[in-house]
Formats: sequence, structure tokens, C-alpha cells
Amino acid sequence: MIIILFVIRFRSTSACAQTASANSPSANSLSAITTTTVSSTTTTTSPACASCTLSQLTLTGGTVAGATPVIPTAGSILTNASTGCSSVVITCTGTGNTLQMEFNAGNNGVITGTTTVSAPLMCDSNGQWELSLGGTTAVITAVDCISV
Ligand SMILES: *[C@@H]1O[C@H](CO)[C@@H](O)[C@H](O)[C@H]1NC(C)=O
Repeated sequence: MIIILFVIRFRSTSACAQTASANSPSANSLSAITTTTVSSTTTTTSPACASCTLSQLTLTGGTVAGATPVIPTAGSILTNASTGCSSVVITCTGTGNTLQMEFNAGNNGVITGTTTVSAPLMCDSNGQWELSLGGTTAVITAVDCISV
């Protein structure tokens, strides 16, 4: 008679412990999810193609015998809204004679004009200024102009 009572009591306490432990963890995990702020960790990192600066460009008047050096000017650095990449237009203004713009001392292209010559440089995925000219793209670190 005493043994049977003991078994009944053991089962009833074990059943109580199970329902208690099944309820409390689910309540805890719900509150943990709702209080975790995700927005603080998602910071926007600008792409490398937005990191180019004008200090990466040497803008000088070209030194060619018999030619007048013209120092190129850089426009504002613009950001393409869809790509997030930077670009800048380099311009030389002459006096109506033949104007020549040289990229990397002429190693990566020359364009000519009369009063004004300008070229758009794009900041690439390595954070370097690039010029696409005649189907060829080259990293540009120096631009010079001469008026002939
Ligand atoms: C921005 O970049 C896209 C993709 O290269 C190009 O199609 C678009 O013309 C650019 N927009 C401007 C304003 O340069």
C-alpha cells in the first residue's frame, strides 16, 4: 500500500516539471528575438569605385618643345546613383590652336581638340581612375595638355 502511493506521486511531479519547462523557453526565445537590433550592424559600406580622389591624379602642363603647356582642371567628383561609383571630367581649355590631352604622358592615349578638350575618368573596382579610349581601358594617374 505504501509503495503504490509513492509511484503515483513520482509520476505527477514529473509531469508538472515537463509542462513548466516546455512553456518557459518558448517565452524566453520570443523576447530575445524581438529585442535584438539588426539595423545597428547593417552599415552601408561604400564601394571601392567610390574611393578615388583627385590626389591620385597629377595634372600638369605638358612640356613639348614649341608647345604651350596647358594645365588640366578637374571637375567635381560625381557619384553614379545606380552604381555608386565616382567619375570626374578632366578638361583643358586652350586658345583656339590645336589642343592635345595626354594620358600617362601619352602612353595611354592622346585626344585632340581646339578650344576645349575633356575626358571622363571613371573610378574602377580597385579604387583607381580609368579611361576608356578607343575600346581600351587604362588606369590613369597623370594627365597633361599642350596647345600647339
Ligand atoms: C551610371 O552607370 C550606369 C551603368 O554603368 C550607366 O549605364 C549610366 O549611364 C550611368 N549614369 C550616369 C549618369 O553616368
